[in-house]
Amino acid sequence: MSSTVYLNGEFVPHERALISVEDRAFLFADGIYEVVRVYGGRPFDLEPHLARLSRSAGELRLPEPDGEHLAAVTRELIRRNGLDEGTVYFQITRGVHAPRAHAFPTGTAAPTVVVLTHPLSPEALAAGEQHRREGVAAITVPEQRWARCDIKSVSLLPNVLAKQQAVERGAYEALFVRDGFVIEGSSSNLFAVLDGEIVTYPACNYILNGIARQRVIRNARELGYTVREQGIPLGALDRCQELFLTSTTSEVMPIVAVDGKPVGSGAVGPVARALQAAYRDAVRALR
Ligand SMILES: Cc1ncc(COP(=O)(O)O)c(C=O)c1O
Repeated sequence: MSSTVYLNGEFVPHERALISVEDRAFLFADGIYEVVRVYGGRPFDLEPHLARLSRSAGELRLPEPDGEHLAAVTRELIRRNGLDEGTVYFQITRGVHAPRAHAFPTGTAAPTVVVLTHPLSPEALAAGEQHRREGVAAITVPEQRWARCDIKSVSLLPNVLAKQQAVERGAYEALFVRDGFVIEGSSSNLFAVLDGEIVTYPACNYILNGIARQRVIRNARELGYTVREQGIPLGALDRCQELFLTSTTSEVMPIVAVDGKPVGSGAVGPVARALQAAYRDAVRALR
């Protein structure tokens, strides 16, 4: 059965959810997005995701999205598509612009607004569980992105190329290195346990301030850990007790090897385990 997609104010079958070849997201990657995880038919952390969408829109001078309307659309799509475990994807672009020109369109161009759902298969869910249980490998790559990584823009080519490199080297994630610091993954934030403290790059223009990152920092502090928002030097990786990623879809994902070298003992550590449990408690509280 075809799923339903929300496109510019209408609920339409997936095969009829078509956008123009002159949409500015297609021409210039001129748009923003969000991904929200749905557990047991309920969206998780929808409010902060929609708040970040609104912030991204403001930073790119796109019209302010209607958060209440998008929340209602989310619930309606979950209902219509019978979504139990999966994700909701939001994308807003600067709309159709012909003839093609870099500067913003003047006059009546309306943004393109798309919301769609993707179910997670039992196999994908099981693979995620296994990765979280056993830990994953990562590689480091030089930073090649722009200096506004705090905006969740669909301009993701360096992230795509980095992730592909990771896949080709049998790794789960590529970690960007900027000015000698390992700052975040291609689609995740990075945490280290160094000298018994949790360290993660500060929320600034060089990283996306992940919604999972913010939740995990709160959880860690509630559990009594010291969390320092500062850079993780590339040269300190070999003395980290633990490393882990966070993201909406990966949750708390332990890294047990970087560039082929074990992290700490080479096994998932106690801090990642405690933070995985705290994250899962919050998910369970949704029900
Ligand atoms: C570059 C980057 N950093 C971090 C994240 C994690 O963000 P969140 O926790 O909101 O999923 C993402 C998610 O897509 C990302 O693309």
